[in-house]
Amino acid sequence: MPVAAAAVALAGIRSRTARAGTGLSGTDLHGRTAVVTGAGSGIGRSLALLLARRGALVHVADVDAGRAEAVTRQIVEAGARAVAHTVDVCDAAAVDALAEQVVGAGGVDLLFNNAGIGHAGAVADTPLSDWQRLIDVNLMGVVHGIHAFVPRLLAQGRPAHIVNTASVAGLLPVPGMVPYSTTKAAVIGLSEALDAELRPHRIRVSALCPGVIATDIVRTSTMRGAWQERQAGATELYATRGTSPDVVARAALDAVTHGQVVVPTPRHQVLPPWLLMRLYPPLARAVNATFVNRVRSVTAGATGDAPGAGAQSVVKR
Ligand SMILES: NC(=O)c1ccc[n+]([C@@H]2O[C@H](COP(=O)([O-])OP(=O)(O)OC[C@H]3O[C@@H](n4cnc5c(N)ncnc54)[C@H](O)[C@@H]3O)[C@@H](O)[C@H]2O)c1
Repeated sequence: MPVAAAAVALAGIRSRTARAGTGLSGTDLHGRTAVVTGAGSGIGRSLALLLARRGALVHVADVDAGRAEAVTRQIVEAGARAVAHTVDVCDAAAVDALAEQVVGAGGVDLLFNNAGIGHAGAVADTPLSDWQRLIDVNLMGVVHGIHAFVPRLLAQGRPAHIVNTASVAGLLPVPGMVPYSTTKAAVIGLSEALDAELRPHRIRVSALCPGVIATDIVRTSTMRGAWQERQAGATELYATRGTSPDVVARAALDAVTHGQVVVPTPRHQVLPPWLLMRLYPPLARAVNATFVNRVRSVTAGATGDAPGAGAQSVVKR
Protein backbone atom coordinates (compact mmCIF):
# COMPACT_ATOMS: atom_id res chain seq x y z
CA MET A 1 0.00 0.00 0.00
CA PRO A 2 1.47 3.39 -0.93
CA VAL A 3 2.85 5.35 2.01
CA ALA A 4 0.76 8.37 1.01
CA ALA A 5 -2.47 6.35 1.34
CA ALA A 6 -1.43 5.18 4.82
CA ALA A 7 -0.66 8.74 5.84
CA VAL A 8 -4.03 9.95 4.56
CA ALA A 9 -5.86 7.12 6.39
CA LEU A 10 -3.99 7.87 9.63
CA ALA A 11 -4.74 11.56 9.30
CA GLY A 12 -8.42 10.66 8.82
CA ILE A 13 -8.44 8.55 11.96
CA ARG A 14 -6.69 11.31 13.91
CA SER A 15 -9.25 13.88 12.79
CA ARG A 16 -12.12 11.54 13.71
CA THR A 17 -10.74 10.72 17.13
CA ALA A 18 -9.19 13.96 18.39
CA ARG A 19 -10.61 17.42 17.96
CA ALA A 20 -10.91 20.43 20.21
CA GLY A 21 -13.64 20.26 22.86
CA THR A 22 -16.27 22.83 23.85
CA GLY A 23 -14.39 23.79 27.01
CA LEU A 24 -16.63 21.48 29.04
CA SER A 25 -14.54 19.33 31.36
CA GLY A 26 -15.46 15.69 31.79
CA THR A 27 -13.55 15.52 35.07
CA ASP A 28 -15.06 18.34 37.12
CA LEU A 29 -18.82 18.28 36.64
CA HIS A 30 -19.92 20.32 39.64
CA GLY A 31 -22.82 22.53 38.60
CA ARG A 32 -23.45 20.44 35.45
CA THR A 33 -26.52 18.41 34.57
CA ALA A 34 -26.42 15.13 32.65
CA VAL A 35 -29.06 12.84 31.15
CA VAL A 36 -28.30 9.16 30.56
CA THR A 37 -30.68 6.77 28.78
CA GLY A 38 -30.39 3.05 29.45
CA ALA A 39 -28.84 4.10 32.77
CA GLY A 40 -30.27 1.19 34.76
CA SER A 41 -27.58 -1.32 33.79
CA GLY A 42 -24.14 -1.84 32.26
CA ILE A 43 -22.48 1.08 30.50
CA GLY A 44 -25.33 3.51 31.27
CA ARG A 45 -25.20 2.64 34.97
CA SER A 46 -21.41 3.12 35.06
CA LEU A 47 -21.84 6.46 33.28
CA ALA A 48 -24.49 7.62 35.75
CA LEU A 49 -22.39 6.63 38.77
CA LEU A 50 -19.22 8.28 37.39
CA LEU A 51 -21.04 11.48 36.39
CA ALA A 52 -22.49 11.72 39.90
CA ARG A 53 -19.09 11.06 41.54
CA ARG A 54 -17.64 13.88 39.44
CA GLY A 55 -20.29 16.30 40.68
CA ALA A 56 -23.09 16.30 38.09
CA LEU A 57 -26.80 16.14 38.76
CA VAL A 58 -27.74 12.96 36.87
CA HIS A 59 -31.09 12.18 35.27
CA VAL A 60 -31.17 8.38 35.26
CA ALA A 61 -33.54 7.23 32.49
CA ASP A 62 -34.42 3.63 31.71
CA VAL A 63 -37.39 1.69 30.37
CA ASP A 64 -37.08 -0.46 33.49
CA ALA A 65 -38.36 1.66 36.39
CA GLY A 66 -36.88 -0.59 39.08
CA ARG A 67 -33.39 -0.36 37.59
CA ALA A 68 -33.57 3.42 37.17
CA GLU A 69 -34.67 3.79 40.78
CA ALA A 70 -31.98 1.44 42.11
CA VAL A 71 -29.19 3.38 40.37
CA THR A 72 -30.66 6.68 41.55
CA ARG A 73 -30.88 5.39 45.10
CA GLN A 74 -27.24 4.27 44.98
CA ILE A 75 -26.16 7.75 43.84
CA VAL A 76 -28.24 9.60 46.42
CA GLU A 77 -27.11 7.30 49.25
CA ALA A 78 -23.51 8.14 48.30
CA GLY A 79 -24.32 11.83 48.85
CA ALA A 80 -24.61 12.88 45.19
CA ARG A 81 -27.59 14.04 43.13
CA ALA A 82 -29.82 12.01 40.80
CA VAL A 83 -33.40 11.78 39.59
CA ALA A 84 -34.98 8.60 38.18
CA HIS A 85 -37.12 8.63 35.01
CA THR A 86 -38.97 5.74 33.41
CA VAL A 87 -38.61 6.37 29.69
CA ASP A 88 -38.80 4.11 26.66
CA VAL A 89 -36.52 5.68 24.03
CA CYS A 90 -38.73 4.20 21.28
CA ASP A 91 -41.48 6.56 22.43
CA ALA A 92 -40.75 9.97 20.85
CA ALA A 93 -43.35 11.74 23.01
CA ALA A 94 -41.87 10.31 26.23
CA VAL A 95 -38.35 11.40 25.25
CA ASP A 96 -39.67 14.85 24.36
CA ALA A 97 -41.40 15.10 27.74
CA LEU A 98 -38.13 14.15 29.45
CA ALA A 99 -36.27 16.89 27.54
CA GLU A 100 -38.93 19.46 28.35
CA GLN A 101 -38.79 18.59 32.05
CA VAL A 102 -35.02 18.44 32.54
CA VAL A 103 -34.01 21.32 30.27
CA GLY A 104 -36.83 23.40 31.76
CA ALA A 105 -35.54 22.68 35.27
CA GLY A 106 -32.17 24.39 34.72
CA GLY A 107 -30.65 23.17 31.48
CA VAL A 108 -28.62 20.19 30.35
CA ASP A 109 -24.87 20.08 29.69
CA LEU A 110 -24.37 16.43 28.81
CA LEU A 111 -26.69 13.99 27.02
CA PHE A 112 -25.86 10.29 26.72
CA ASN A 113 -28.08 8.49 24.22
CA ASN A 114 -26.98 5.09 25.45
CA ALA A 115 -30.01 2.75 25.62
CA GLY A 116 -29.66 -0.21 23.30
CA ILE A 117 -30.35 -3.88 22.78
CA GLY A 118 -28.36 -6.73 21.30
CA HIS A 119 -29.05 -9.24 18.55
CA ALA A 120 -27.16 -12.09 16.90
CA GLY A 121 -28.16 -14.40 14.10
CA ALA A 122 -27.68 -14.95 10.40
CA VAL A 123 -29.76 -12.65 8.20
CA ALA A 124 -31.50 -15.73 6.77
CA ASP A 125 -32.69 -16.65 10.29
CA THR A 126 -33.76 -13.12 11.28
CA PRO A 127 -37.43 -12.11 11.00
CA LEU A 128 -38.26 -8.61 9.82
CA SER A 129 -39.65 -7.85 13.28
CA ASP A 130 -36.12 -8.18 14.74
CA TRP A 131 -34.78 -5.63 12.26
CA GLN A 132 -37.62 -3.29 13.17
CA ARG A 133 -37.07 -3.67 16.91
CA LEU A 134 -33.32 -2.99 16.61
CA ILE A 135 -33.91 0.05 14.43
CA ASP A 136 -36.58 1.31 16.85
CA VAL A 137 -34.38 1.04 19.96
CA ASN A 138 -30.78 1.42 18.73
CA LEU A 139 -31.29 3.99 15.98
CA MET A 140 -34.65 5.71 16.53
CA GLY A 141 -33.97 5.81 20.27
CA VAL A 142 -30.92 7.98 19.52
CA VAL A 143 -32.83 9.98 16.91
CA HIS A 144 -35.57 10.71 19.47
CA GLY A 145 -32.95 11.97 21.91
CA ILE A 146 -31.40 14.19 19.24
CA HIS A 147 -34.77 15.48 18.03
CA ALA A 148 -36.00 16.32 21.53
CA PHE A 149 -32.82 17.80 22.99
CA VAL A 150 -30.92 19.55 20.18
CA PRO A 151 -33.33 22.48 19.67
CA ARG A 152 -33.46 22.97 23.44
CA LEU A 153 -29.66 22.76 23.80
CA LEU A 154 -29.31 25.36 21.02
CA ALA A 155 -31.82 27.61 22.77
CA GLN A 156 -29.83 27.38 26.03
CA GLY A 157 -26.94 29.12 24.25
CA ARG A 158 -24.21 27.41 26.28
CA PRO A 159 -21.71 24.61 25.55
CA ALA A 160 -23.04 21.06 25.60
CA HIS A 161 -21.89 17.60 24.58
CA ILE A 162 -23.92 14.67 23.26
CA VAL A 163 -22.48 11.14 23.44
CA ASN A 164 -24.27 8.46 21.42
CA THR A 165 -23.42 4.86 22.23
CA ALA A 166 -22.57 3.01 19.01
CA SER A 167 -20.29 -0.06 18.93
CA VAL A 168 -17.18 -1.60 17.45
CA ALA A 169 -19.78 -3.46 15.36
CA GLY A 170 -20.48 -0.15 13.60
CA LEU A 171 -16.79 0.25 12.71
CA LEU A 172 -16.01 -3.30 11.57
CA PRO A 173 -17.92 -5.94 9.61
CA VAL A 174 -19.28 -8.56 12.02
CA PRO A 175 -20.94 -11.58 10.41
CA GLY A 176 -23.88 -12.80 12.47
CA MET A 177 -24.64 -9.27 13.70
CA VAL A 178 -25.76 -7.55 10.49
CA PRO A 179 -28.94 -5.83 11.80
CA TYR A 180 -27.16 -4.71 15.00
CA SER A 181 -24.15 -3.45 13.00
CA THR A 182 -26.50 -1.59 10.67
CA THR A 183 -27.96 0.41 13.55
CA LYS A 184 -24.57 1.11 15.10
CA ALA A 185 -22.96 2.21 11.81
CA ALA A 186 -25.90 4.58 11.39
CA VAL A 187 -25.33 6.01 14.87
CA ILE A 188 -21.66 6.67 14.01
CA GLY A 189 -22.63 8.42 10.75
CA LEU A 190 -25.33 10.42 12.53
CA SER A 191 -22.89 11.48 15.24
CA GLU A 192 -20.15 12.58 12.84
CA ALA A 193 -22.55 14.61 10.70
CA LEU A 194 -24.29 16.14 13.71
CA ASP A 195 -20.95 17.09 15.25
CA ALA A 196 -20.05 18.98 12.06
CA GLU A 197 -23.44 20.73 12.11
CA LEU A 198 -23.45 21.71 15.79
CA ARG A 199 -19.78 22.51 16.33
CA PRO A 200 -20.18 26.19 15.41
CA HIS A 201 -22.78 26.39 18.19
CA ARG A 202 -20.34 24.96 20.79
CA ILE A 203 -22.23 21.68 20.96
CA ARG A 204 -20.09 18.64 20.29
CA VAL A 205 -21.17 15.08 19.46
CA SER A 206 -19.31 11.81 20.03
CA ALA A 207 -19.95 8.22 18.97
CA LEU A 208 -18.87 5.85 21.72
CA CYS A 209 -17.65 2.58 20.18
CA PRO A 210 -17.21 -0.08 22.88
CA GLY A 211 -15.75 -3.51 22.19
CA VAL A 212 -16.60 -6.53 24.33
CA ILE A 213 -17.93 -5.19 27.63
CA ALA A 214 -19.08 -7.16 30.68
CA THR A 215 -22.74 -6.11 30.90
CA ASP A 216 -26.15 -7.75 30.70
CA ILE A 217 -26.49 -7.19 26.96
CA VAL A 218 -25.70 -10.70 25.70
CA ARG A 219 -27.94 -12.40 28.26
CA THR A 220 -30.87 -10.21 27.17
CA SER A 221 -30.09 -10.23 23.42
CA THR A 222 -32.37 -11.84 20.89
CA MET A 223 -30.48 -14.71 19.26
CA ARG A 224 -31.60 -16.57 16.16
CA GLY A 225 -30.67 -19.82 14.44
CA ALA A 226 -27.35 -21.36 15.49
CA TRP A 227 -26.68 -18.37 17.73
CA GLN A 228 -29.46 -19.44 20.12
CA GLU A 229 -27.30 -22.35 21.25
CA ARG A 230 -24.37 -20.01 21.76
CA GLN A 231 -26.18 -17.57 24.05
CA ALA A 232 -25.02 -19.17 27.32
CA GLY A 233 -21.44 -19.40 26.06
CA ALA A 234 -21.44 -15.82 24.77
CA THR A 235 -22.93 -14.59 28.06
CA GLU A 236 -20.16 -16.35 29.96
CA LEU A 237 -17.49 -15.00 27.61
CA TYR A 238 -18.67 -11.39 28.02
CA ALA A 239 -19.01 -11.78 31.81
CA THR A 240 -15.61 -13.35 32.37
CA ARG A 241 -13.48 -11.79 29.63
CA GLY A 242 -15.28 -8.53 28.81
CA THR A 243 -13.91 -5.17 29.86
CA SER A 244 -15.55 -3.39 32.79
CA PRO A 245 -18.21 -0.85 31.76
CA ASP A 246 -16.43 1.59 34.11
CA VAL A 247 -13.60 1.77 31.55
CA VAL A 248 -16.13 2.77 28.87
CA ALA A 249 -17.65 5.43 31.13
CA ARG A 250 -14.23 6.99 31.74
CA ALA A 251 -13.50 6.98 28.00
CA ALA A 252 -16.82 8.74 27.35
CA LEU A 253 -16.02 11.52 29.82
CA ASP A 254 -12.47 11.85 28.42
CA ALA A 255 -14.10 12.31 25.01
CA VAL A 256 -16.12 15.21 26.42
CA THR A 257 -12.95 16.89 27.71
CA HIS A 258 -11.05 16.40 24.45
CA GLY A 259 -13.87 16.79 21.93
CA GLN A 260 -13.23 13.31 20.52
CA VAL A 261 -15.73 12.36 17.83
CA VAL A 262 -15.26 8.61 17.34
CA VAL A 263 -14.34 6.94 20.62
CA PRO A 264 -12.97 3.38 20.34
CA THR A 265 -12.97 1.83 23.83
CA PRO A 266 -11.11 0.08 25.30
CA ARG A 267 -8.51 1.50 22.96
CA HIS A 268 -6.21 -1.53 22.96
CA GLN A 269 -9.12 -3.74 21.88
CA VAL A 270 -10.94 -1.58 19.32
CA LEU A 271 -8.34 0.82 17.90
CA PRO A 272 -5.97 -1.72 16.22
CA PRO A 273 -8.64 -3.50 14.14
CA TRP A 274 -10.27 -0.18 13.26
CA LEU A 275 -6.89 1.27 12.20
CA LEU A 276 -6.26 -1.82 10.10
CA MET A 277 -9.72 -1.46 8.54
CA ARG A 278 -8.89 2.11 7.54
CA LEU A 279 -5.38 1.29 6.32
CA TYR A 280 -5.86 -2.04 4.56
CA PRO A 281 -9.46 -3.36 4.49
CA PRO A 282 -8.76 -6.75 2.82
CA LEU A 283 -6.38 -7.76 5.63
CA ALA A 284 -8.71 -6.34 8.28
CA ARG A 285 -11.62 -8.40 6.92
CA ALA A 286 -9.55 -11.59 7.01
CA VAL A 287 -8.35 -10.93 10.58
CA ASN A 288 -11.87 -10.03 11.66
CA ALA A 289 -13.36 -13.20 10.15
CA THR A 290 -10.75 -15.29 12.01
CA PHE A 291 -11.61 -13.51 15.27
CA VAL A 292 -15.36 -14.03 14.79
CA ASN A 293 -14.86 -17.73 13.97
CA ARG A 294 -12.78 -18.09 17.12
CA VAL A 295 -15.53 -16.46 19.21
CA ARG A 296 -18.07 -18.77 17.57
CA SER A 297 -16.09 -21.86 18.46
CA VAL A 298 -15.39 -20.67 22.00
CA THR A 299 -19.03 -19.76 22.71
CA ALA A 300 -20.27 -22.99 21.18
CA GLY A 301 -17.70 -24.83 23.35
CA ALA A 302 -19.10 -23.26 26.49
CA THR A 303 -22.46 -24.85 25.71
CA GLY A 304 -20.78 -28.19 25.17
CA ASP A 305 -21.25 -28.58 21.41
CA ALA A 306 -17.78 -27.69 20.14
CA PRO A 307 -14.21 -27.41 21.38
CA GLY A 308 -14.05 -24.34 23.57
CA ALA A 309 -10.61 -24.13 25.13
CA GLY A 310 -8.81 -20.82 25.11
CA ALA A 311 -11.58 -18.29 25.66
CA GLN A 312 -9.06 -16.23 27.55
CA SER A 313 -7.02 -15.67 24.40
CA VAL A 314 -10.00 -14.30 22.47
CA VAL A 315 -10.71 -11.15 24.43
CA LYS A 316 -8.23 -9.26 26.49
CA ARG A 317 -9.07 -6.67 29.09
N1 LIG B 1 -21.85 -4.61 26.30
C1 LIG B 1 -21.17 -4.51 25.17
O1 LIG B 1 -20.27 -5.35 24.88
C2 LIG B 1 -21.47 -3.40 24.20
C3 LIG B 1 -20.59 -3.24 23.13
C4 LIG B 1 -20.83 -2.22 22.23
C5 LIG B 1 -21.92 -1.39 22.39
N2 LIG B 1 -22.78 -1.58 23.42
C6 LIG B 1 -23.92 -0.65 23.54
O2 LIG B 1 -23.90 -0.06 24.82
C7 LIG B 1 -25.23 0.37 25.15
C8 LIG B 1 -25.56 -0.09 26.56
O3 LIG B 1 -25.58 -1.50 26.57
P1 LIG B 1 -25.06 -2.37 27.80
O4 LIG B 1 -24.05 -3.30 27.28
O5 LIG B 1 -24.76 -1.52 28.95
O6 LIG B 1 -26.37 -3.27 28.03
P2 LIG B 1 -27.30 -3.54 29.30
O7 LIG B 1 -28.30 -4.51 28.81
O8 LIG B 1 -26.49 -3.89 30.49
O9 LIG B 1 -28.00 -2.12 29.57
C9 LIG B 1 -28.90 -1.58 28.67
C10 LIG B 1 -29.94 -0.77 29.44
O10 LIG B 1 -30.78 -0.13 28.46
C11 LIG B 1 -32.12 -0.26 28.88
N3 LIG B 1 -33.00 -0.20 27.72
C12 LIG B 1 -33.21 -1.16 26.79
N4 LIG B 1 -34.13 -0.77 25.92
C13 LIG B 1 -34.53 0.47 26.30
C14 LIG B 1 -35.49 1.39 25.81
N5 LIG B 1 -36.23 1.09 24.76
N6 LIG B 1 -35.62 2.57 26.44
C15 LIG B 1 -34.86 2.88 27.53
N7 LIG B 1 -33.98 2.03 28.06
C16 LIG B 1 -33.81 0.83 27.45
C17 LIG B 1 -32.18 -1.60 29.60
O11 LIG B 1 -33.31 -1.67 30.48
C18 LIG B 1 -30.84 -1.61 30.32
O12 LIG B 1 -30.97 -1.05 31.62
C19 LIG B 1 -26.14 -0.20 24.07
O13 LIG B 1 -26.44 0.82 23.14
C20 LIG B 1 -25.28 -1.28 23.43
O14 LIG B 1 -25.66 -1.53 22.11
C21 LIG B 1 -22.58 -2.56 24.35
